[in-house]
Amino acid sequence: MTESLILPSQADEAGPHRQRILAISNQKGGVGKTTTAVNLATAIAAVHKKVLVIDLDPQGNASTSLGIDHRNRTISTYQVLTGEAPLSAAIVASAVPGLSVVPSGVDLAAAEIELIDLENRQARLRDAIAAHGDAFDYILIDCPPSLGLLTLNALVAAHAVMVPLQAEFLALEGISHLAKTIERVRKSFNPTLELQGIVLTMVDGRNKLSEAVESDVRGYYGAKVYKTTIPRNVRISEAPSYGKPVLLYDFQSKGARAYLDLAGEVLKREQGVAA
Ligand SMILES: Nc1ncnc2c1ncn2[C@@H]1O[C@H](COP(=O)(O)OP(=O)(O)O)[C@@H](O)[C@H]1O
Ligand SMILES: [Mg+2]
Repeated sequence: MTESLILPSQADEAGPHRQRILAISNQKGGVGKTTTAVNLATAIAAVHKKVLVIDLDPQGNASTSLGIDHRNRTISTYQVLTGEAPLSAAIVASAVPGLSVVPSGVDLAAAEIELIDLENRQARLRDAIAAHGDAFDYILIDCPPSLGLLTLNALVAAHAVMVPLQAEFLALEGISHLAKTIERVRKSFNPTLELQGIVLTMVDGRNKLSEAVESDVRGYYGAKVYKTTIPRNVRISEAPSYGKPVLLYDFQSKGARAYLDLAGEVLKREQGVAA
């Protein structure tokens, strides 16, 4: 049905349907993973890509931030991981055109333990996406603040990892754990897994420590660190309580602008991978 809508120029740019799966991960909580997943997904959907956010955190913050009512969370990531439901049955639409969500629920916390006894426990999300996720150009997985079996499923399913990092003391130390985990996953399960990039979040331009950490992170990870940084912005923190991405809540805000810029950089990198 949509075939006639695919213009040659677009097809050239994207190649044949090429799906990209990005895990948004950092084992630390409160660093901006969910905020980045939700707003990056919105910004990518705004350029007419079909985007799916998979909420892999039992807290369900990504689902809430995208306005998914609890009544619409009866089939969630939990059922997808345990094999009780296919991915397609768990997908719900968000208020953002082109952006869908696989919501999570509190039962997901149990999956961390229940998965241990299941066959192929680290690849269940990958297999679920492979079976039913082909309608999407981009799939963003919002990871929980741990490096357990849920995050392992995300890293096995993903093409690349995006790391939100708060510029604060010990930030580099935290990221080295994640880097080791990525390396281990690459060796054992997913040899082509890449670090898509590191995004500095909640940046406060007036803070000397934040500046020093930023220059350390850039010195160490070089071009892997996005030029765009996400400023600390009150509109970003207000938006989730309205069930809206900041791009819908206040398009003019600094936070919204920053996420649009970030999406531009991410898409450019992704197209570089395609070339
Ligand atoms: N750039 C920002 N400016 C202000 N508040 C932010 C920003 N990014 C995130 N927050 C707020 O900080 C808290 C933690 O962010 P969140 O994205 O939930 O982190 P994580 O998913 O890593 O736990 C949330 O209340 C969120 O609204
Ligand atoms: Mg979160």
